[in-house]
Amino acid sequence: MKKLFSILLTLCLIIGLTACSGGTSEEPAEPENEAAASEEQAEEIKEEGDNTDMSEKGTLVVYFSATGTTKGVAEKIAAVTGANTYEIKAAQKYTDADLDWHDSNSRTTHEQNDASARPEIGSEPVSLDGYSTIYIGYPIWWGEEPRIMDTFVEAYDFDGITMIPFCTSGGSGIGRSGKNLEENAGSGTWLEGERLGSNASEDELKSWIEGLK
Ligand SMILES: Cc1cc2nc3c(=O)[nH]c(=O)nc-3n(C[C@H](O)[C@H](O)[C@H](O)COP(=O)(O)O)c2cc1C
Repeated sequence: MKKLFSILLTLCLIIGLTACSGGTSEEPAEPENEAAASEEQAEEIKEEGDNTDMSEKGTLVVYFSATGTTKGVAEKIAAVTGANTYEIKAAQKYTDADLDWHDSNSRTTHEQNDASARPEIGSEPVSLDGYSTIYIGYPIWWGEEPRIMDTFVEAYDFDGITMIPFCTSGGSGIGRSGKNLEENAGSGTWLEGERLGSNASEDELKSWIEGLK
């Protein structure tokens, strides 16, 4: 009986060990999974790499310009920074009559007197993917940003983006306009804005940009 028991025990041990070694034989599956995982990672890294490549277009110059002055400065900034540009166009274009600041009934007078006015944008929306710096330019109207700039900043998420306001004007400084935009945007890291002369040279723009760093 004792002998039979020991034979049975030996048999059990042999079966148990075989089962164990069977488990071990499945192990090679793991490296395959690892390989698959590392292929996935490589793909992810490649994708990240592609995003990094996009940093070449990591700077965007956004501007609104009713009569072309700000547009000219925006294009120079884009030239010295290698940036892309995006023009905010009003859905309803501003006519000369609209821009008449001597007229207390003109469209711009009404808009600038109403901090909640949000003129509609007519240009196609822009994707901010891949941009880490945005120069944002506009003319000064009645000492502030045109209300359409508020329409723009309220429509986008600037998280992770450095925002640099600039303006052109007949002489007024940038005033509170940069702060207004920052408050209305509610996202992004906003730097102190700057009034730029309509004839600002590329060297002047370069030294301003250098000073921002
Ligand atoms: C409705 C309106 C209001 C303006 N208010 C001011 C102002 O308060 N201070 C100033 O210096 N210039 C003022 N300007 C002049 C513009 O800021 C200036 O001409 C600007 O460079 C125009 O830019 P743009 O050609 O890109 O539209 C005003 C112009 C308009 C049309």
